[in-house]
Amino acid sequence: MNDKQFNMIDTTQIDQWIQSAISTAHAGELITPASAADSRFYDKTKQFMETIVDYKELMMMYACAMKEINTKFDVLNTEFKARHQRNPINSITTRLKKTSSIAEKLTKKNAPFSLEGIRQHIHDVAGIRVVCSYIDDIYTLADALIGQDDITLIAKKDYILCPKANGYRSLHLIVSVPVFFSDQKRNMEVEVQIRTIAMDFWASLEHQLKYKQDVPDQQDIADKLKHCADVIHQTDATMQDLRRQIEAMADAPTEDDILFEKLSRLDIAIS
Ligand code: GTP
Ligand code: MG
Repeated sequence: MNDKQFNMIDTTQIDQWIQSAISTAHAGELITPASAADSRFYDKTKQFMETIVDYKELMMMYACAMKEINTKFDVLNTEFKARHQRNPINSITTRLKKTSSIAEKLTKKNAPFSLEGIRQHIHDVAGIRVVCSYIDDIYTLADALIGQDDITLIAKKDYILCPKANGYRSLHLIVSVPVFFSDQKRNMEVEVQIRTIAMDFWASLEHQLKYKQDVPDQQDIADKLKHCADVIHQTDATMQDLRRQIEAMADAPTEDDILFEKLSRLDIAIS
């Protein structure tokens, strides 16, 4: 894949621009030119289309890497369900960064808007968010993922151990995963965010504040959000303690019970 430089344009327009270029090509406008002026236009359009194809191909690779990580979490969830009586994962969502956000981030980082620029400077093109019930599930899942021999941990930020000043909590990992295509293997980066349901609830409300301008009582809202984050963390910690106590209270099962229980859980897990 060539590393062609993209021309900088109004970042909010890029997606529309690409769409209209693609539909123009589909409409048959990319035909053999008649005059020299047409020829220059044709060359430029062709070059532009080639660049778009390379860019879309890179995005396809990120989308595939996201699928790989999604499957890994899905497998861990199924296995956990078979071994224990519950699912550690409540939900998994994935997202591919929008072209306009990629361009914005590259501009902020003063990095070139090129394929190499994206690969080197943007570590969250592919993003996956895993939402768990309990704090200990977050670390169990993170350790299980990082421990897999095809996964390379690039960076780890533990905002649960060290919450942000606003109260934000979550475990962030940047991992690299090999993706096997028909003709090549590519190591692709994926940003993984793992958090509890309560942390996710808090983050989605706090996120809305980011997009509001001239908020009256901004400090008051920020203070209340910080307070909620701390209360939520206390509740998360207490729920985890209670779950552990309840699990420890269970009657000691007989060997037959364990065997039947295993069989039943495996049936549920693979159904
Ligand atoms: P970005 O440039 O935003 O990707 O941040 P970063 O490169 O410094 O990485 P970091 O790990 O701090 O944050 C990555 C992502 O975590 C963000 O894009 C958000 O989705 C989420 N995040 C981080 N901090 C906050 C926060 O204070 N509030 C909320 N709601 N989400 C946050
Ligand atoms: Mg981000």
